[in-house]
Amino acid sequence: MLSKDCLVCTGCQKEYPVERIFPRCDDCFEPLEVKISQPNKIREKVFFPDTDNILSRYASFYTLAAVNQQLSLGEGFTPLVKANLLSDLLSLDCLYLKNETVNPTWSFKDRGTFVALQHALSLGCTRIGTLSSGNMAVSVAAYGARADVKTLILVSADIPFEKIQPILIYNPILIKVKGDYGQLYYESLKIGQELGIYFLNSDVPFRVEGSKSIAFEICEQLNYEIPDYVIIPTSSGGNARGIMKGFLEFYELGLINNLPKIICVQLAGCAPLYQAWIGNQEKVSPVSNPQAIDHAIANPFPPSGNELLRKLRKYGGIVTAVSDQEALQSQLLLAKEGIFAQPAAAISIAAIQKLRKAKVLNKQSRCVAIVTGSGLKYNSILKKHKFSSFLSTMDNLKKMIVSKFEQ
Ligand SMILES: Cc1ncc(COP(=O)(O)O)c(C=O)c1O
Ligand SMILES: [Zn+2]
Repeated sequence: MLSKDCLVCTGCQKEYPVERIFPRCDDCFEPLEVKISQPNKIREKVFFPDTDNILSRYASFYTLAAVNQQLSLGEGFTPLVKANLLSDLLSLDCLYLKNETVNPTWSFKDRGTFVALQHALSLGCTRIGTLSSGNMAVSVAAYGARADVKTLILVSADIPFEKIQPILIYNPILIKVKGDYGQLYYESLKIGQELGIYFLNSDVPFRVEGSKSIAFEICEQLNYEIPDYVIIPTSSGGNARGIMKGFLEFYELGLINNLPKIICVQLAGCAPLYQAWIGNQEKVSPVSNPQAIDHAIANPFPPSGNELLRKLRKYGGIVTAVSDQEALQSQLLLAKEGIFAQPAAAISIAAIQKLRKAKVLNKQSRCVAIVTGSGLKYNSILKKHKFSSFLSTMDNLKKMIVSKFEQ
């Protein structure tokens, strides 16, 4: 057993040095995670000072041989918005939205990219890569450009056209790959090992480390009064693992007195975690024909699925699934609060609605919904909504305005 910081296998607990790049266990192939031997408490409470980034504010919760603060783009420290209107609609006393759409590349992925990039650079890696259906690709391409390292982005061949341009603006090497997206995850790790490319994939240990800052911030923003439920749109499982890990680390230090229940939400057309959950399976099985409205949340074979099942069972979490239609509806509901999320990022709202109806959540349940990414990168989906606007001549303008206000 290693006495200092290390990576530990989430499946069999085998330990590895923290300098390891390959993110999975040699014996059981489950994902590794970072174990910090002795975290200290965070510095005294000061809300989100300008000069901090997640790695400076929560420094003792991270283990990195070197950190280049200059690479920060201001990721994290996102608003926790009280949603009064939505609370009323959902018949909840208290709902908060953790608005990850305001990250530098408009999704939570920037937290993990920033942290995992530091790990890559501290090990002397000069080539990074990822595979993604959109958000992670944009994030890795942006930070790769800022760090001036060669950056490889693999996307599935059916990625919508409009999602490619926001990746290419950062000038990475972008390859569209035909074939099974779930399998591509493992293929990329293999190629990465052979060619010396550090793949910052969805659930690699240091990306998960980035996501844990979401939990730290929620604790601080709620003045350490922990919510009853945190609801997370889930695909590979990396983000949910990170958020759970963050709460656990604060709990183990005595900074918080209890843990929130984690609710993972999937789209019903690609819900391997949900299927395994309701089927009482220990392991996730691949979905053979995924059909989901938003690719961001449609990993047919989540690489952290087994570990999530273990953790959710251990700590009393919940997995649920909602339809494409409910996802679109949730997008409209979030817009009522002034937040433009992509459908995948909005499904926490549909999940709350569903669990409220089923009386799993009651009116008093204090909920935080993680709004994982912005709608801006996926405008074509808006065609599915029926919006209206009006056309007027200058002469008729006043009359029309009056009539519209009276409607
Ligand atoms: C907007 C959005 N929400 C949720 C997720 C799911 O996160 P994870 O794959 O870490 O479970 C993703 C992943 O790409 C995403 O882009
Ligand atoms: Zn193992």
